[in-house]
Amino acid sequence: MKNEELVMLPGPVNVDHRVLLSMATAMFNHRGPKFNKLFVDVKEKLRKVLNTAGEVYFITGSGTAGNEFAVSNLVAPGDKVVVCTNGYFADRLRDTFKVYGANVVEVKSEWGRGVDLETLKSSVDGAAIVAMVFNETSTGVLNQVREVARIARKAGSLCFVDNVSGIGNDYEMDPWGIDVTVTATQKGLATPPGAAFVAMSDKAREKAAKTPKRSFYFNIELFDKAAEDHSTPATPAISVIHALNTSLDQILEEGVEKFVVRHSVNAEAFRRGIAAMGLDLFPERGLASNTVSAIKIEGKARLVANTMRDRFEVIVSAGLGKYRDDVLRVGHMGRVDMKDIITTLSALELSLKEVGVGKTRLGEGVSAALEYYSMNTI
Ligand SMILES: Cc1ncc(COP(=O)(O)O)c(C=O)c1O
Repeated sequence: MKNEELVMLPGPVNVDHRVLLSMATAMFNHRGPKFNKLFVDVKEKLRKVLNTAGEVYFITGSGTAGNEFAVSNLVAPGDKVVVCTNGYFADRLRDTFKVYGANVVEVKSEWGRGVDLETLKSSVDGAAIVAMVFNETSTGVLNQVREVARIARKAGSLCFVDNVSGIGNDYEMDPWGIDVTVTATQKGLATPPGAAFVAMSDKAREKAAKTPKRSFYFNIELFDKAAEDHSTPATPAISVIHALNTSLDQILEEGVEKFVVRHSVNAEAFRRGIAAMGLDLFPERGLASNTVSAIKIEGKARLVANTMRDRFEVIVSAGLGKYRDDVLRVGHMGRVDMKDIITTLSALELSLKEVGVGKTRLGEGVSAALEYYSMNTI
């Protein structure tokens, strides 16, 4: 029998068996007491993970649906929205704002670089919203969310953050002055896909209250009404939310701070392994994420990813958009531990050798990661 694959994608991620088993619950009424309790519990636990006291909306759909819920309720046609773009997912966020008639001003940086804060400062005047992706999954860049939030706040704009793939990095929604956070189950929350969540500050909800509603499914008024009864306006992804509850328990049992430290140790061990193999990271120095590493492998990223899958059952991803074949993307989020990191580095070393990329001596990457783990226990 074949082993299970080791999924090290930038989402979806490996899911713990206890979380998977929670999916196998018998169905229950989403307008009854069992769901009402689940709704209240999950909301409270998500608030702890995101560090917010804001309202949390439960969206049935993937992360894209979460972004669209927030955009459709916050943007009135003609509103000035500054979108910081430096990758594939930021471009999609920009396009979502355009669909809802925003007057989009793009603050653009090269893929792999962080947000251009000076250009942002000179662009925010009169903006209703400043939007960004926290963890740009296409490039492994962890954008400077605190600085962007500060600039947005000073200009009187709402700060909107796509945090679909950033959970596992330090993220403090209220202390940092973020008004909108969008996330989804299948990445750092280590749950199967199917539900997204949008946390909103009071200021964001006030803006939504004044904004014409242009979607029925995503109409926030219907969500607020249903929330009075601890439910959702349409049938939610009950099994996914039930599983998420188990995963959130695991995160809170570990402790949010330790959860972030574990991600940062695993990410650093992985990066040291990569460097020892003579490979370069795609993101600029200082902006590497705890949850996704993007590695430059010019022209052969797809071949390397396919070799890792076919020969070693380790599932990683090649690049997106214009870097389709030049960047290898590895997710190290959720329940990831040292065994996963070491196995992934081993499969990468063997695959590089097999396809003739680089000139690593086998074991150098693994050895560098082990050295790091020996000094940093988690
Ligand atoms: C940063 C970011 N935003 C949005 C999305 C879209 O999420 P989904 O595929 O769940 O719709 C993704 C998916 O990878 C993402 O990484």
